[in-house]
Amino acid sequence: MLPNGYSDVPGSKLAAVVTCLEMRERPALRPERSAVPWTLRRVVEPRTEWYRDLFRRVGLEWLWFSRLTMPRSELEQILGNPDVEIHALEVDGHDEGLLELDFRQAGQCELAFFGVTRTVQGTGAGRWLMNRALEQAWSRPIERLWVHTCTHDHPQALAFYLRTGFLAYARRIEIADDPRLIGLAPADAAAHIPIINRT
Ligand SMILES: CC(C)(COP(=O)(O)OP(=O)(O)OC[C@H]1O[C@@H](n2cnc3c(N)ncnc32)[C@H](O)[C@@H]1OP(=O)(O)O)[C@@H](O)C(=O)NCCC(=O)NCCS
Repeated sequence: MLPNGYSDVPGSKLAAVVTCLEMRERPALRPERSAVPWTLRRVVEPRTEWYRDLFRRVGLEWLWFSRLTMPRSELEQILGNPDVEIHALEVDGHDEGLLELDFRQAGQCELAFFGVTRTVQGTGAGRWLMNRALEQAWSRPIERLWVHTCTHDHPQALAFYLRTGFLAYARRIEIADDPRLIGLAPADAAAHIPIINRT
């Protein structure tokens, strides 16, 4: 049980509030742009370097780090699992969005990673990709689709998920090493979360 009030966090660590969201029925899709300049491409057994590059380009700004600290062999096992679907949003021959659906738990799907690069944010790409995510996820016999988002993510991410039809069911605090202080992310990543410099 966490005490009320402030809890000190060492400067070398990050603290995020995680909101856990789920939906238990296939929702109606929200309106999306038509005649879009992008496509969705499933990437079966992606190369680790390709995956890590896209993961970084979408997520470093939001301090996504879990897949960067994971041992390569563990990551390769996930990427090669037929119950994990990796999709790229392709724009003009460049991959600018990542959609990862994890069906490894029977009857469920985790929207494990979801996001687009800054190049296409705010252009309708996120909503289009979410509609594809919902179609893909609910095309399998699942009873539940779930996702976690945290306070390091895009400030509009939580509201975006709520509009999609996810309901919040839990909140957690996540403590982790600041990836910018251990060489996993450049020091100028995620300017909205300042590095704590204590002398
Ligand atoms: C959160 C995130 C996915 C939202 O995507 P986005 O591309 O910024 O948002 P969009 O432009 O698609 O959508 C915003 C709204 O404007 C609408 N919109 C935007 N441009 C539009 C256009 N040209 N025509 C019609 N509608 C448009 C969308 O339909 C959407 O409406 P809705 O949400 O009410 O249904 C995106 O900001 C992102 O990837 N962030 C970084 C990674 C991240 O934080 N991921 C979530 C962590 S789990």
